[in-house]
Amino acid sequence: MEKSKQFFLTLSLGICVLVTYYLLEQGQLIPFADVFGKKQRNIYHPSVDEATASESSHLRRKKVIFLVSSKRSGSSFVGEYFNRHSDIFYVFEPLQMLTFYVLEGKLNNSAFDDVAMDIIQGLVDCQFNHGYNSAKEWLRRASSVCAFNQEIGKSNLCPFKHSRVSQTEVEAMLTDTCETTTDIAFKLIRIRDIEFIKPLVLNQTIDAKVLYLVRDPRGTMNSRDRGGKNFDLIRRMKNASFEVEDLCDTMEKNLKHYWMDTPTWLKGRIKMIRYEDVSLNPIDLGKEIFQFIGRRFRSGSHKMVIFEHSKSDD
Ligand SMILES: *[C@@H]1O[C@H](CO)[C@@H](O)[C@H](O)[C@H]1NC(C)=O
Ligand SMILES: *[C@@H]1O[C@H](CO)[C@@H](O)[C@H](O)[C@H]1NC(C)=O
Ligand SMILES: *[C@@H]1O[C@H](CO)[C@@H](O)[C@H](O)[C@H]1NC(C)=O
Repeated sequence: MEKSKQFFLTLSLGICVLVTYYLLEQGQLIPFADVFGKKQRNIYHPSVDEATASESSHLRRKKVIFLVSSKRSGSSFVGEYFNRHSDIFYVFEPLQMLTFYVLEGKLNNSAFDDVAMDIIQGLVDCQFNHGYNSAKEWLRRASSVCAFNQEIGKSNLCPFKHSRVSQTEVEAMLTDTCETTTDIAFKLIRIRDIEFIKPLVLNQTIDAKVLYLVRDPRGTMNSRDRGGKNFDLIRRMKNASFEVEDLCDTMEKNLKHYWMDTPTWLKGRIKMIRYEDVSLNPIDLGKEIFQFIGRRFRSGSHKMVIFEHSKSDD
């Protein structure tokens, strides 16, 4: 009787260990993790694991992933690869507010690029306390950070409770959340020339990767026709009559100068992906993207969420 009890105890312990190990491997949530009040990543990412330990020191530099694309080319969808990854802090459209500042007359358009660079450099360091783009206003505007950053979305800043939280507290909270992750990813659809991020790519303290996402312009235009105004084009040109030319011209230049004839500063750091391929085969493309970035793709942690795009300005 004692023996069979022991046998069953050992057996169930064994099964338990195997199931846990399987879930860890798959990068899935441990059941009841919330009960223990722990963050998902703390459970299956012990601070030193074999993968990290075996990575050479240059691979351990902070990865900064720039998802560069244009409005309505699938960047919200592709951005979810990063948002759903527990090691990456994903910033959905850090420059969105700047476009509105220009249109509202609060910012001189000729200063846009300089201010944009300040903001991005700050974010690379998890700093949200720059003067231009108030984090609090940013959260309130369209709630985009709440909707598109899975960690912040879970916090008490979202959806609109932050009206009672001070500016400094909001910034500190964003910094804390950002600092718990190893890497950071941005979606950039308001810069026309990849050259813009050159100073960041050249910065040796980070490991920059650029994903240039393109889509058949017919699909992009078809999608834009159903969406709202192209505010960024209006900001740049004061007139959105030349939208097709602008789209094709931007794509052609970027592909020619940075992908087909990659300059030295971008060698090995840029990858072009087509939205059509992502939508046909999201898992394989996900693996390809993460191989390029040099981080592990965990199918379990990439529950691809297909959400309504019509509300986002992508
Ligand atoms: C915007 O900046 C440009 C260049 O610095 C300057 O010439 C122009 O007067 C500024 N416009 C406004 C409205 O401040
Ligand atoms: C390089 O990046 C680090 C970390 O983001 C930053 O603190 C530093 O100011 C950057 N250096 C230059 C020259 O941009
Ligand atoms: C935009 O520019 C074009 C060409 O200059 C002009 O024909 C058109 O009326 C302008 N549209 C608006 C809304 O200003």
